[in-house]
Amino acid sequence: MKKPAISTTALLVTYTLLLTACGGNQTNTATNSTNTATNTTTSTSGAIPIGVAFAQTTNVALLGQEGFVGTKLAEKYFNDQGGINGTPIKLVMQDTGGDEAGAINAFQTLINQSKVVGIVGPTLSQQAFSADPIADRAKVPVIGASNTAKGIPEIGDYVARVSAGIDTVAPNSIKAALKQNPQIKKVAVFYAQNDAFNKSETEIFQKTVKDMGLEVVTVQKFQTSDTDFQSQVTNALNLKPDLALVSGLAVDGGNLVKQLRELGYKGVIVGGNGFNTSNIFSICKASCDGILVAQAYSPESPGAINKAFYKTYLDQYKKVPAQLSAQSFAAVQVYVEALKALDQKKKVNTIPLEQLRIELNKQLLTGKYNTPLGEISFTPTGDVVQKEFYVSQIKMDPNGTDGKFILIK
Ligand code: ALA
Repeated sequence: MKKPAISTTALLVTYTLLLTACGGNQTNTATNSTNTATNTTTSTSGAIPIGVAFAQTTNVALLGQEGFVGTKLAEKYFNDQGGINGTPIKLVMQDTGGDEAGAINAFQTLINQSKVVGIVGPTLSQQAFSADPIADRAKVPVIGASNTAKGIPEIGDYVARVSAGIDTVAPNSIKAALKQNPQIKKVAVFYAQNDAFNKSETEIFQKTVKDMGLEVVTVQKFQTSDTDFQSQVTNALNLKPDLALVSGLAVDGGNLVKQLRELGYKGVIVGGNGFNTSNIFSICKASCDGILVAQAYSPESPGAINKAFYKTYLDQYKKVPAQLSAQSFAAVQVYVEALKALDQKKKVNTIPLEQLRIELNKQLLTGKYNTPLGEISFTPTGDVVQKEFYVSQIKMDPNGTDGKFILIK
């Protein structure tokens, strides 16, 4: 059994539900009831609806849109292969915006109105800590495809993730930085203090550098909504660091890097998981060059499904696929394969929705999935078990308009 969600989360949910009830920060219309789904006995008929709740608007869309792309590619890929033993899947998309209230609204709509069998999302761990408990209470499976903060799978029995936790992934980038420059001694840490994932990531970053015998000379905090980082950068540069660790989302993190370089920092920069998108290139431009980022996906990963995913993505978007797209493809794949396995025992469109969601949740946790991320499975708590992790370095073209993540061998 999983542990119940932590009490601070419950408080946050109550707060955001109040906000929602008062009409604050709404990004879409939704019922405020969280438990009507448990009263339904409707079976799915026709295409099987899977909910996708990612940020399509706000700054968080830089991450959320890559998630949407991955799920759309998966929908076509698996339907072309016959869907769920002949029945297609149908993704129902909801924009979460960038905050907790938007994620809660999206989840409520998907659960109560769209009557989805399960949900992929939301984009941020910060949103997951508020929205996932709603699905958990309604016994609707959730697969996080970008949530990397500590504690996500523990939110509840119905919450799993295919996005490997930050404790597994983040240390690799610091090790790569030391390999490139063994002289590194002094580390400046920057993190977004209003975001759950970034708080979680900086803890891991700081522990890793201390364990490696490096000195953290300063810890500078900011908000994901900040655009001016001059005071944090100046404070840090006075201490002459030779490694900067930045835990932020794509826009704030990208701007911070830009200002670090503009104010004269020449040392190594490690970006956290919020940097894991080519959408950051338009933010830090030429200053993105050289940033090291740990990744849970390699476009070069062997395997037929990654080759197919890679090719479709490249053909459609004229660039190499990103981690968040691969992870959200994998999340849809988990639902498809678990539904197929269930369907072989009993046609899923004859099972009442409430029961189907419960059985789907049990089934998905037992499977092994050969995905673009490589072979994955789940711990009993719902955390992903994945074998391979990578580090890439951003290489910008000379005029700073476009770039690439180059895998470090
Ligand atoms: N990895 C980021 C999070 O968990 C997007 O919030």
